[in-house]
Amino acid sequence: MMTAQRSILVTSALPYANGPIHIGHLVEYIQTDIWARFQRMRGHRCYYVCADDAHGTPIMLRARQEGIDPETLIARVAEAHRADFRDFRISFDNYYSTHSPENQRFARLIYERNRDGGHIVRRTIRQAYDPVEKMFLPDRFIKGTCPKCGAEDQYGDNCEVCGASYSPAELKNPRSVVSGAVPEERESDHYFFRLRDFEDALRAWTRSGSLQPEVAHKLEEWFAAGLQEWDISRDAPYFGFEIPDHPGKYFYVWLDAPIGYMASFQNLCDRTPGLVFEDFWGLDAEAEIYHFIGKDIIYFHALFWPAMLQGAGFRTPSAVYAHGFLTVDGQKMSKSRGTFIQARTYLDHLNPEYLRYYFAAKLGPGVEDIDLNLEDFSRRVNADLVGKVVNIASRCAGFLTKRFEGELSPQLAEPALFAAFVQAGEAIAAAYEGRAFSRAVREIMALADRANQYIDEQAPWIVAKDPAQSERLQGICSLGINLFRVLMGYLRPILPATAEAAEQFLQIPPLTWDDLPNPLLAHRIAPFRPLMTRVDPKKIEAMLQAAKADLAATAPQAKKPAREPIAPEISYEDFAKLDLRIVRILEAEAVEGADRLLRLQVDLGDETRTVLAGIRAAYDPKDLVGKLTVLVANLAPRKMRFGVSEGMILAAGSGGRELFLLEPDAGAKPGMRVR
Ligand code: MSP
Ligand code: ZN
Repeated sequence: MMTAQRSILVTSALPYANGPIHIGHLVEYIQTDIWARFQRMRGHRCYYVCADDAHGTPIMLRARQEGIDPETLIARVAEAHRADFRDFRISFDNYYSTHSPENQRFARLIYERNRDGGHIVRRTIRQAYDPVEKMFLPDRFIKGTCPKCGAEDQYGDNCEVCGASYSPAELKNPRSVVSGAVPEERESDHYFFRLRDFEDALRAWTRSGSLQPEVAHKLEEWFAAGLQEWDISRDAPYFGFEIPDHPGKYFYVWLDAPIGYMASFQNLCDRTPGLVFEDFWGLDAEAEIYHFIGKDIIYFHALFWPAMLQGAGFRTPSAVYAHGFLTVDGQKMSKSRGTFIQARTYLDHLNPEYLRYYFAAKLGPGVEDIDLNLEDFSRRVNADLVGKVVNIASRCAGFLTKRFEGELSPQLAEPALFAAFVQAGEAIAAAYEGRAFSRAVREIMALADRANQYIDEQAPWIVAKDPAQSERLQGICSLGINLFRVLMGYLRPILPATAEAAEQFLQIPPLTWDDLPNPLLAHRIAPFRPLMTRVDPKKIEAMLQAAKADLAATAPQAKKPAREPIAPEISYEDFAKLDLRIVRILEAEAVEGADRLLRLQVDLGDETRTVLAGIRAAYDPKDLVGKLTVLVANLAPRKMRFGVSEGMILAAGSGGRELFLLEPDAGAKPGMRVR
């Protein structure tokens, strides 16, 4: 079957540049990658671009807290993101940054065209202002007491205890999360995008089939509620692009974020001969554009983004595909339960192909959440991939290698069975195309069952005992290998590394969809090596332990707006268990790879200990050498990712840069007990 070659641009949402990639994110990157790989395998021109989303207040503050430039922070995070994606085999054609000249140019262009079209208006708004840090505060950077239920320590926009939504002005005892100061209300001019100007076009777009039914339904609700003007500007200080005609005002991060899709693609065009930006983004471009996103950012992609594009004379996307959220064991990923698993932590312990397969087996075309249950994960990977698919090859390859020098038969033993496998390809392709990956996986595994059943029935291990039946033995095993080849072809978008290993074993070039109907006849294969091992339960356990340890190393250390509550009362006996000692810091150095840690050598009188202390943001190592401080000397040694810490030194404050080492009065000596 010949289909016309399509030109396709695919994107995943741009991850924020202030934190690591975690397995929740990976649902999206794996989903998009499978789809892009499928399209390429079908012979289409498919480009997959992405970028870091590098702007905004959280990134600015995080950099400040670490005492570095935002540029340094985003460069470091980008490097980690790239490595994570590479190791999960996410096949981006380009991975860029929104903090790029291309993006600045497109952001200006899109803003100016919308402004000239009359779609931008200026309004004066009142907003919370931090008089100490001299900055306006986003709702998330104000905390206080919920006006409805009285719960303390709630964010400025909603209460996590009673679920109420409110404005920061309604919050009782509000405090800036940044400085702890009481916010003031101040006026400022902001620029708003008139979304309502595009209502008719958006309604048409909603009904054009570009959206999933659930998403289209959500949009109908938003239309009914009335489209609001969208505030696209922020005041300095802000890490982002300055608005051309308004010095001191910046584009809100969500204005230039989706434009990052274009910028990344432009950057790819600039270094790819024959790839022309206008062919994809021009008003009458024939290429298809698809955005894969999570369900939490539909408003931005299904309303603001197409409207901005229209206002600026660009085409709108062919479709936006939203997916649900990842839960672990039926619950939101949680740092304290250790189910907030970073991509790198997973990679340190488990094969990425397992997770790619598991997500594929769970992903459908809709926006339902998907659950990772680690027992189910092991069971499925072991049963399906190791037990069914790889097993076919391992059951057949041995005989071919030992008895036939790896040579396959010149004919198919059962052409009808092979033909049935080929025929199933259309339904599998349709499932991939429609993002019904779980259906594709089901169909593929049904075929794997048939292949194993064939081998069971033919029992090559019995046939092998009869020298007169050697041709038959070769025929059975050759068919088994050919069925395996077709299955690996179908699984290739999901399991790129395993497919590559299988191609080496089969001694063939990369499999394409069109090539699958042509069996390998009178062809020599390489000796079989296991293509995948079973999931090791000990590694899963180790990963969960490591995920808990990551939490200690990376938990955000926002300053507490008010005094921390006093901990529950303890007895004198409890206190007496602590052995606190005066120590002198002999050496101090930064721990490579750990942003918050210093490695200290401390003198305890007649013993030296190594302590890993999370005080890097607050102290320059060289200023610490020679200082006396207090050590919890009988704390069990703690194994951390960067070594063992033999005790803990004491400091006051909430963390980050706000930490103050305890020092004894003059005269105290190393080794003295503190009581
Ligand atoms: N920076 C914005 C997107 C800008 S796109 C122009 C953003 N970044 S994010 O890092 O928070 O999320 C990136 C993508 O990962 C989003 O599509 C988001 O929905 C998805 N996911 C983040 N956590 C997720 C889960 N727990 N489960 C599934 N997807 C999740 O939003
Ligand atoms: Zn409340």
